[in-house]
Amino acid sequence: MNAAPALETRQLVYAVENATILKGVDLRVEYGEVVGIMGASGSGKTTLLKCLCGLLKPTAGEVWVEGVNIAPLSERERMPMRLRLGIVFQYAALFDFLTVAQNVAFGLERHRRLSRAQIQDIVRERLAWVGLEDTGHLYPSQLSGGMRKRVGLARALAMDPHIVLFDEPTSGLDPVNAYQIDQLITRLNRELNLTAVVVSHDVVSLMRTAHRIAMVDNGQIIAEGTPDAIRQHEHPQVQAFLRMASAEAL
Ligand SMILES: Nc1ncnc2c1ncn2[C@@H]1O[C@H](COP(=O)(O)OP(=O)(O)OP(=O)(O)O)[C@@H](O)[C@H]1O
Ligand SMILES: [Mg+2]
Repeated sequence: MNAAPALETRQLVYAVENATILKGVDLRVEYGEVVGIMGASGSGKTTLLKCLCGLLKPTAGEVWVEGVNIAPLSERERMPMRLRLGIVFQYAALFDFLTVAQNVAFGLERHRRLSRAQIQDIVRERLAWVGLEDTGHLYPSQLSGGMRKRVGLARALAMDPHIVLFDEPTSGLDPVNAYQIDQLITRLNRELNLTAVVVSHDVVSLMRTAHRIAMVDNGQIIAEGTPDAIRQHEHPQVQAFLRMASAEAL
């Protein structure tokens, strides 16, 4: 079974009424890999992520998640797949009226048969993984942006996913907090062999976390390779994007 890649798209197309957003994307993510998806705003990165986790149904093509093609499945049939993937959304998407601990426990309470004590143990452990062991009683509004992102990650990790998808995990963070998130992704990958797809236009972040980077431009992957190969890539769009990103970082 593990000969199948963790994730794979084949000629993935996603169209809305008058626009084709993804135009035949082929992407393969092996177990244990951290794959970065970079690209300009509006290029289709979030749409690709949503197709990968079954939140959007592709117009055409295939989306394989741990050996199952979820593209033809109904929303209900895709649900078990969705629970196996961890998703960390761009804006953390925490419930403001729940404490940090209740946010992390949310999926466990709804989808796992566990005692209250077992849930508390998992919540404590996941918060410790992201360096937030003493915050369980606080509300999201009492946390900094970086802390909220880490709670979002702890919540995703509560369900023991093999694969976690991150949408812009470092956007809106200062360099120190961004670095912390990057370190966390790298550590989870090394220690738990977590497979990760990281969507970001933060090139600096992707270069230090990803084993492989795919560049999306206008709904297509125009370049793919190791961070070094991407740095050297001769595609003019890739070079233009890297130049712009490094100018922005200065
Ligand atoms: N449901 C929709 N209906 C119409 N257009 C959409 C829809 N969803 C996305 N789009 C369009 O598809 C394009 C890609 O959107 P997407 O959110 O995937 O881009 P992105 O690369 O994640 O951008 P950003 O870096 O700003 O997050 C954009 O032009 C967006 O306006
Ligand atoms: Mg996006």
